[in-house]
Amino acid sequence: MTSSSLPGTAKVTVVDHPLILHKLSLMRDVRTGVKEFRELAGELSMLLAYEAMRDLETAPERLSTPIQDDDFPMLSGKKLALVAILRAGLIMADAMVRLVPAAKVGHIGLYRDPATLKPVAYYSKLPQDISERRVFVTDPMLATGGSAVAAIQTLKEAGAQSIKLMTILSVPEGIAAVHAAHPDVDIVTAAIDTGLNDHGYIVPGLGDAGDRIYGTK
Ligand code: PRP
Ligand code: URA
Repeated sequence: MTSSSLPGTAKVTVVDHPLILHKLSLMRDVRTGVKEFRELAGELSMLLAYEAMRDLETAPERLSTPIQDDDFPMLSGKKLALVAILRAGLIMADAMVRLVPAAKVGHIGLYRDPATLKPVAYYSKLPQDISERRVFVTDPMLATGGSAVAAIQTLKEAGAQSIKLMTILSVPEGIAAVHAAHPDVDIVTAAIDTGLNDHGYIVPGLGDAGDRIYGTK
């Protein structure tokens, strides 16, 4: 795992664990079909969540094992919210909620206009108490960063104060855009690729995440 940050910007954590790298390579493979792609995206999201949630607070609680009473760590502190950027972020949030079943789940609908590459907002439904929760925003792809920047803006306007962005693939352009607009938001990702092609796709990337998850094209 490598973490880095420029002065005045938030942290970027690249979770380059061998299991994650292997699963990501399978996702990149053009021969990987919808079923396997979905499964891999879910597994990888849970592995990323393990790292993204490393700093969750715990507090001792008195419990009885079959042998004796003792204090044991349990999650404490702020409650959690997972916010999926639709469509592709849904697969990540659905997987992560298995790890944190009490988390509330929000949805922000955005699609990237293929001509301008700018995000177009079409939906937003967030937990009412979002300001009191630690928010994990999920989107597998951080390309130009337009979608993530807009989603985080929506979250802040709704009152969110503690936000972490989780992506499977990122590029320096997207990371820079998020840092510039939201320097308080840490990013957790599986890999940072080379850059973007003329159509705004990540190179070498894995293609269109939403199309590969849902079998649309
Ligand atoms: C993809 C992806 C991100 C966005 C990334 O979504 O899931 O949300 O593009 O690109 P950006 O960083 O340049 O904004 P898309 O617009 O294809 O929508 P979809 O998830 O509904 O397929
Ligand atoms: N959105 C995707 O789904 N893939 C990319 O490579 C860039 C944006």
